[in-house]
Parts: sequence; C-alpha cells; structure tokens
Amino acid sequence: MADRLRCAVIGAGAIGLEHLNSLSQCHRGTAVAIAESNPARAKEASDRFKIARSYSDYRELLEQADIDAVTIALPNHLHAPVAIEALRARKHVLIEKPMAMNAKEASKIIDTAAKMRRTIMVAQNYRFHRQTQLARALIQRGDLGEIYHARCFWLRRSGIPRIGSWFTQKKFAGGGATNDIGSHMLDACLHLMDDFNVSSVSGQTHSRFGPRGLGEGSCGKSEIDPAKPFDVDDYGVALLKMKNGHTVNFEVSWAAHQPTDAREYGVDLLGTQAGLSLYPARLFRNGVNGYETTHLAAQKVPHPEDRVHHFVNCVLDGKKSLVPVEESLKVQQILDAIATSAATGKEVRLR
Ligand SMILES: NC(=O)c1ccc[n+]([C@@H]2O[C@H](COP(=O)([O-])OP(=O)(O)OC[C@H]3O[C@@H](n4cnc5c(N)ncnc54)[C@H](O)[C@@H]3O)[C@@H](O)[C@H]2O)c1
Repeated sequence: MADRLRCAVIGAGAIGLEHLNSLSQCHRGTAVAIAESNPARAKEASDRFKIARSYSDYRELLEQADIDAVTIALPNHLHAPVAIEALRARKHVLIEKPMAMNAKEASKIIDTAAKMRRTIMVAQNYRFHRQTQLARALIQRGDLGEIYHARCFWLRRSGIPRIGSWFTQKKFAGGGATNDIGSHMLDACLHLMDDFNVSSVSGQTHSRFGPRGLGEGSCGKSEIDPAKPFDVDDYGVALLKMKNGHTVNFEVSWAAHQPTDAREYGVDLLGTQAGLSLYPARLFRNGVNGYETTHLAAQKVPHPEDRVHHFVNCVLDGKKSLVPVEESLKVQQILDAIATSAATGKEVRLR
C-alpha cells in the first residue's frame, strides 16, 4: 500500500462532496477517483477537487488496482450491494449512515468484510463531534454515576429532505425520519451509554406531512420527481428497554407542529450522580452552592479526527475504529425493530 491511502468516493452528491473535502485536507489519505452516475455532479466534484479520474459506473472504479479504499455516499439502497462488491474487490470501505436497508444486509456486509479481511466502518459523524467526545470522557470517568435513562431526539418542524427525491421513497431509502436522522442520535446515545444491549423495542411511526406535500426542507442533491409516492415515515417514536433494565426514549421528526423551527437534536442522559445533555454539552448536578448547570467547553478531546480521517487512520494503522461495526449492526437492528413494531402494533424483542 502507498504511504497515503488512495481513496475513491462513490456518489458525489451532498455528502460525497463532504468526503472529498475531508480527503482534500487529509495528510494520510487522498482522493484519486470518483464514481458518480450524474454527469453534471461528476463534473462539479472533479473540477472542484481536481480529481483526474471519474467513472460513471462504480464497477469500473472497483476494477482499478491502485485504489485502496472507497467511501460510499450513495442512496441507502445501494450501500450494501456496493459495499459488498467493493469488499470483494479488496477495497476497505467507509459507508454513510444508515448502514443498510435492514440488518440482514448489514450482516452480509460485515461477513464479507471479515472474509476479505478489509476494514468496514459506518460514517457516524456525531461520534466524532467534540461535544460527544467530551461527554463520553466525563461519563467514562464516572461523573454521571449509573445512567438509567436517556432520551435521544431530532425534532424538525419543517425538514423533510426534498420530497420526491430518493430520501422519501421506501424502495431507495428503507425508511424516513426514523432511519435518516434517527440513526444519528440513536447511535450517539447508545455510544454515550456504552450499551447496545437492547432487549425490547416498542415503536410507532407516522407519515403526516410528506404525503400532503408539506414540511419540506433541503437535503441531498439528487433528482426529484414530485409524482413519486411519499411512502416513508416523517415521525418516529420508540421506547427501548435495555437488558439491564435501563431505558431509552427515541423521538424524531422530519416535520411536525412543534414549539421551535430550530434544528433541535440531542441526547439527554439521566444519571444517579448527574445529568448530561447534548448538543451543546451541559452537566446538571447538585453542587456546593445548590443545583448547578455547567456548560462544558470542548477543549481537550481524545479523538480530534473527523469520520473520514479516522477511517483512513484505522486502515493504515490497523487500529480499532471508534465506530465498531457490531454496534452499527445493533443500531440497524433497532431501526428495523421500530419499523416492525410500528407495522405490527407489538413490542419487538431483540436477542
Ligand atoms: N453523515 C451525515 O451527516 C449525512 C447527512 C446526509 C446524508 N447522509 C447519507 O449520505 C448518503 C448520501 O446522501 P446525500 O445527501 O449525499 O444524497 P445525494 O442524493 O445528494 O447524493 C447521492 C449521489 O449518488 C449518486 N448516485 C446514485 N446512484 C449511483 C450509482 N449507481 N453510481 C454512482 N453514483 C450514483 C447520485 O447521482 C447522487 O449524486 C445517504 O446514505 C445519506 O443517508 C449522511
């Protein structure tokens, strides 16, 4: 392998450009190629980041022997098939969230990575947020005591990714708000609790705004077809019970009538010694002068890399990722369980 990890970005839409931007600032990795099916977006990305090789078919890119790793920033239905093909072509793989359309696909990715002895990581960027890392350091030091309950949420008043894009069609996205923004906060929450052992999930989803053409925000760069049916959720809620009796409340909305139209997202952790809320990070506890709220400044944190730089370092150094793929599989299983619980009206038990 060359000194710098030779990477290619597959899918040069909104997030693919983020990956390219990150690689353009990476000392140990570099973007040598892209694969993008839309010619205009391929040109925009190649010109902006001065990428010499651009493929309209990702399979051709995967045939290139001088590419060590790929980052996948494609619509969700392509995550698993492209990741599996890339792993079989001996590339290391960074996949955007949500990991796959369902846990079965996610397991297949993991099995293929193990068989091919390649690194696989899901790009859970909130784990790399400085505030998350500061909070995690305090939690690991024991400042919160036992965390017996948490809330994770992302509540938008009007933030459906463009209606008619792949985001709002089940066959391309797998799910709506629950999988899209829910995968971020659920992952951050369980990472902070350091507990992915969920025993049961009781969930419900609604689709109240998208089907009426209301609540649109802006996300993604792909084509839209407003005639396509909006058949994903724009609201999701769930209660998760952990094996040790701890609980997690999950609530997300792409669109809802609610008090503020600010992007409200975060995690509240209730501990026996203190509470902690993100974002930004605030600590709540009894102090010598009564109850106090401390706003935490994110100065010294253990992992200063972003998700792409971290992936590059993991591949080059053979180190364990801050986003273990087994935890990404658990997150996918919980997202599946919310959908199943919503569809059946029953609690879903997880092993
Ligand atoms: N980590 C984050 O914060 C974050 C934020 C938004 C989206 N995402 C995730 O990133 C992924 C991409 O989202 P986006 O907003 O960039 O979407 P997007 O629609 O802007 O970009 C997707 C790109 O993939 C291209 N594409 C589709 N099929 C292709 C194929 N067969 N070969 C090559 N290119 C193809 C499209 O032309 C498009 O340019 C999704 O999985 C999404 O959930 C992550």
